[in-house]
Amino acid sequence: MCGIVGYIGSREAYPIIIKALKRLEYRGYDSAGVALINETAELNIYKTKGKVADLEQQVGSHDASGHVGIAHTRWATHGEPNEINAHPHYSASGNLALIHNGIIENYATIKEKLQKAGYEFRSSTDTEVLVQLIEYVQVSHNLDLLSAVQLALQEVIGAYAIAILDRRRPDTIIAARQSSPLAIGIGDNEFFLASDASPIVEHTNRVVYLEDGEIAVLRKGENLHVVTQDNCKVNPQISTINLNIGQLEKGGYPHFMLKEIFEQPDCIRDCMRGRINVEGTDIALSAVIDHQEQLLNARRFVIVACGTSWHAALIGKYLIEQFCRFPVEVEYASEFRYRNPVIDEKDVVIAISQSGETADTLAAIEEAKKKGAFVYGICNAIGSSIARATHTGSFIHVGPEIGVASTKAFTGQVTVLTMLALTLARIKGCISTEKFQEIVGELDQIPEKMKQVVKLNDSIAQLSKIFTYAHNFIYLGRGYNYPVAMEGALKLKEISYIHAEGYPAAEMKHGPIALIDTEMPVVVVATHNQQYEKIVSNIQEIKARQGKVIALVSEGDTQIKKVADYSIELPRTLPCLDPLITTIPLQLLAYHIAICKGKDVDQPRNLAKSVTVE
Ligand code: G6P
Repeated sequence: MCGIVGYIGSREAYPIIIKALKRLEYRGYDSAGVALINETAELNIYKTKGKVADLEQQVGSHDASGHVGIAHTRWATHGEPNEINAHPHYSASGNLALIHNGIIENYATIKEKLQKAGYEFRSSTDTEVLVQLIEYVQVSHNLDLLSAVQLALQEVIGAYAIAILDRRRPDTIIAARQSSPLAIGIGDNEFFLASDASPIVEHTNRVVYLEDGEIAVLRKGENLHVVTQDNCKVNPQISTINLNIGQLEKGGYPHFMLKEIFEQPDCIRDCMRGRINVEGTDIALSAVIDHQEQLLNARRFVIVACGTSWHAALIGKYLIEQFCRFPVEVEYASEFRYRNPVIDEKDVVIAISQSGETADTLAAIEEAKKKGAFVYGICNAIGSSIARATHTGSFIHVGPEIGVASTKAFTGQVTVLTMLALTLARIKGCISTEKFQEIVGELDQIPEKMKQVVKLNDSIAQLSKIFTYAHNFIYLGRGYNYPVAMEGALKLKEISYIHAEGYPAAEMKHGPIALIDTEMPVVVVATHNQQYEKIVSNIQEIKARQGKVIALVSEGDTQIKKVADYSIELPRTLPCLDPLITTIPLQLLAYHIAICKGKDVDQPRNLAKSVTVE
């Protein structure tokens, strides 16, 4: 949520930071801005409503020279997205420029204090308060910038990743972190900074992730200097990152979302690599093996997550309860963190997050740790805050997900949850060897079956054209396919702006059935499993009310195909692995409907990929 970048070195900063900003646009894209210090120590700031491309137009032929700069792409929290509220914000004297990701919770109190001291504010943002505060502290105590930042931040309550330039010190950027991610790339006599490592990898693979409370001084020609607010020196831990640029590009696809849908067969193979044996008969998740004592002694499991990850969590509950016979609860992280949940050291909390930066999930983890629970993370982003905050965990290894609507991360999360449940069931001794090997063998086949599913792309694109008229959609599923129905509805909502609800199929008669008429498309996930006959009846109920049924069925199905208006045939698998197959056509359906409606699928309105505020 909000992307921040910076560069200091011997090269021209502007092209580097604009490119970096584009890579971070998935985090927010309602306005953008850049600040650069040129050779004559002028601070040039350009800002605009809109995307980074609009910013480039705005800069046009103006002076964008200089070897140091910071830039920002915004997801508005305080104040509407417009030029004035866009970052960088600058201090009253015009000497300091600052970019910020996060929320300053006590900004109103600080603002009032500064107003009393004669400060005037141009914008409605909490960020402007921060830059004015730093200048106020600097001037009133006659401090250098680092000391002023250290002192000012002691007054601040909230979450921030910030970077500051001082017109009078063009050789330095100061950056600080509290509960919002910040990565610093170390190059050859140059530094890069960004909200995540993705814009840094094309320049260097040496990265330092700042920790909460740390302040970094990026000074040309010197080593990275990191201190705390109390001025204690910190030895920065340099990580080597293995991201390749190809993973960050569209690779010939029109959108990241489509690319990421099509990548799923390979991603799931990568996710299982080294965890499933070559014969496809055994599986082991090392974090489960290494922490079996904590996991086997659990009284119950609680899974916390948000958005799509929460849907994966629901599937995790079904898997762990079915195979491991532990009670499992699933909670929205945002609710969990504030309701003083009954959790203690006998509980295991699983936190699921693609980005590893979602503020509510991170806070839920802290709450669980405070109460003594053992916390297991399932993340995609290596080096992310959640990956570091949990006691142990498993990465899903599906590569960077750029499209705002999550696709491959969902199937990756479900794959890891399946491997977790199977490994745990095996060491708990509550699954027969036969059953275990049957599921592992079938899981091993999933990437091949996914390849067959993505081949349905063209026919789903054709089908989508029929439904652009719809203002509402219902998605229904039972058992493992109920969370899939919810995820399908979420995908459609997120990118096409069509209202959609996912329901357990049997619940339809307790409310949603009232909505069904000739106009209402109902997507039913009706693959072959124990509840097949029940879902056939649900489809009959919809047809009796003239609803339009789009059914996902198993290959060879004849019964539903006769009743449904449209059917999508999918390769058969075990019911517990169905979500890995049935989710994909729903991703494609949402994608193509949104495309037909001319929507921006990779950057849908009002959304952000990484929600680092509450
Ligand atoms: C945002 C994204 C969703 C994502 C959710 C949770 O809302 O747009 O796609 O599912 O955050 O994100 P996380 O990174 O924690 O999985």
